[in-house]
Amino acid sequence: MYTLTGVTKTYLNGKKAVNALQGIDLNIPDGQMVAVQGPTGGGKSTLLQMLGALDRPTSGSVLLGDEDLAKSSNSRLTKLRASNVGIVFQSFNLIATLTALENVEAALVPLGVPKAQRRERATAALASVGLADRIGHRPAELSGGQQQRVAIARALVKDPKVLLADEPTGNLDEETRDEIIALLEGLWRDQGLTLVIVTHDSQVAARAQRRLHIAKGKLRDTTPASKTPAQARPPADEQPTWAKPADDASPPADASPPAEAAAASPAAAASPAAAESPAAAVSPATPADEA
Ligand SMILES: Nc1ncnc2c1ncn2[C@@H]1O[C@H](COP(=O)(O)OP(=O)(O)O)[C@@H](O)[C@H]1O
Ligand SMILES: [Mg+2]
Repeated sequence: MYTLTGVTKTYLNGKKAVNALQGIDLNIPDGQMVAVQGPTGGGKSTLLQMLGALDRPTSGSVLLGDEDLAKSSNSRLTKLRASNVGIVFQSFNLIATLTALENVEAALVPLGVPKAQRRERATAALASVGLADRIGHRPAELSGGQQQRVAIARALVKDPKVLLADEPTGNLDEETRDEIIALLEGLWRDQGLTLVIVTHDSQVAARAQRRLHIAKGKLRDTTPASKTPAQARPPADEQPTWAKPADDASPPADASPPAEAAAASPAAAASPAAAESPAAAVSPATPADEA
């Protein structure tokens, strides 16, 4: 699905340059569920913008299939986004004056889908996220969880190959968060999507097939050994011993990755493979390049 090679992104803030991504190499196979974690300001959203064709890298290539998004024209990127990539944000980003149905329908306008079909598909998409009885409501008349469901329906109504979610549960309470994650995971499974989800929630990350950690613009693959048996792990005495964070909703910029350590306990312990492998239960992380 994606092949990133040597991707950098530098933002210019006045005279100051911010190196948001520093040489990212990454391959994401079709249909994989990928969790991306890391401290605030680490580059997670910037990476998602590259994957979502929302922006181009400063250097390097971002292949979606065999098309290099770094070299595509603006109009081509707009087309790709409209047809291939669904994106869900923390803040829902719904249009306040439109009903749920109209918000979802709007995603089909750039694709030239006729009005009657738009209505039909949007209605079905809203039903698939459990909102059949709320299609006439405006965002202000919906709960946070319901608004995020509308945003998910809007992202999926175009039948994209990829769903990108940038902290989709960051504004939701715990119970609603679990519902939204279960929904995303179900959609991923049923629709054969490639799902990339940025999350501070270690329990969510633990459910993904693949785990990535990004800090200071550098990426590490932190997929637990129980999920990728072949992956090399550091010896036990080099395992980090991060304390379990209270709740890493907004870790300090320089924090070592607390997520894996916290996550390892419930999820890894539940897995038979991890139970046989004490190292995996401690932490899958390889913090070598973070110093
Ligand atoms: N549009 C922008 N202009 C300037 N700097 C930016 C912009 N977007 C992000 N940054 C900077 O790039 C770095 C990475 O940001 P971001 O990708 O949003 O991190 P994360 O999503 O992990 O919190 C941060 O230092 C941030 O301040
Ligand atoms: Mg972000």
